[in-house]
Amino acid sequence: MVENRVLSESQNTMKYFRVRENISAMQGYTPGEQPQTGKFIKLNTNENPYPPSAQVTQAIARVAEGGLLRYPDAMADAFRIRAAQLWNVDQDWILCGNGSDDLLTILTRTFVGEGETLRLPYPSYVLYRTLAQIQGAIYEEIHFQSDWTLNEQFTSASSQPKLAFLPNPNSPSGTLISKEVIAQMAERLPCPLIVDEAYADFADSHCIELVKDHENVVVTRSLSKSYGLAGLRFGYLIAQPRIVRELSKVKDSYNCDALAIAGATAAIDDQDWLADNRNRIVTTRRRLEDGMSELGFSVQPSQANFVWSTHSEQPVQPLYEQLKSKRILVRYMQYPEWGDGLRISVGTDDQIEACLATLRTVM
Ligand SMILES: Cc1ncc(COP(=O)(O)O)c(C=O)c1O
Repeated sequence: MVENRVLSESQNTMKYFRVRENISAMQGYTPGEQPQTGKFIKLNTNENPYPPSAQVTQAIARVAEGGLLRYPDAMADAFRIRAAQLWNVDQDWILCGNGSDDLLTILTRTFVGEGETLRLPYPSYVLYRTLAQIQGAIYEEIHFQSDWTLNEQFTSASSQPKLAFLPNPNSPSGTLISKEVIAQMAERLPCPLIVDEAYADFADSHCIELVKDHENVVVTRSLSKSYGLAGLRFGYLIAQPRIVRELSKVKDSYNCDALAIAGATAAIDDQDWLADNRNRIVTTRRRLEDGMSELGFSVQPSQANFVWSTHSEQPVQPLYEQLKSKRILVRYMQYPEWGDGLRISVGTDDQIEACLATLRTVM
């Protein structure tokens, strides 16, 4: 277990203003590369390679044609009604966000005060740590065990955590913790447990049912990956209404714009598109896993739309560089104690074949 106090004593002397110590001390989150020019095969940020449901673009066009003079619906009720029907809850169990990152921010701001503790697993989504740093909070990283499970340290009450994040499936590993184990974690933890299900549409199970019986479970969902809408910025969470009411005090008044609300509502309405897309991604994921294994990588079986692979005999950073020089972007990740590896998003069959073919020529 690693404890990290982010408040620092660093000097911060600008002429007319003073940046908070914890902000000047932190690095800031670095998002994956998003080249805006040139043609790349982009397999580095877990976007969906297929265009979204045609209903999405039609819905956005209708709103755009109607003009954007007015502020949007502050709570995005059109979306909440559809999401509530999908998950068999009332609409006051749903809160919408400008991407699920917005919801992770709102959750941190609501539950974790300055100097208090936020718990997260390691290695996992780096943004959680950044959110703690912005808040001036302490983040406590509990290391995954070698089989990507978490031991009882994750649920211990000893450091009085005020919030725990658990990405499920996890990134970069693509592994899933079962609903039963997560229910036990929620029962032991003395704080809200945020199950970040950004990738759950690609997995064999999810935890939305747990919200009904566990007041401290909050599930966040993203439309960026499984609905092919990373550029739209839309996510939502499911929690008990008492929690949704508190969180909505913290969000920006109009955190979702009118185009995003219309597009997201049309997307969640088209569950046939989602099912087809999921099947395609899962089929290509298997090809990617098999192809990487054939190249001698240790491949972690994935429940998400990306695959994590390490190599015991060959450094992987040069492979990442070689792919990039051929205009194929994947994610190279390095974890002290954990080794380094490639996280490759599941693209189209052609994109994955191009990636594997390039690796075959350079290895
Ligand atoms: C685990 C995890 N949670 C949340 C997000 C953010 O998703 P969104 O695009 O909905 O903000 C990501 C994005 O990569 C992620 O990997």
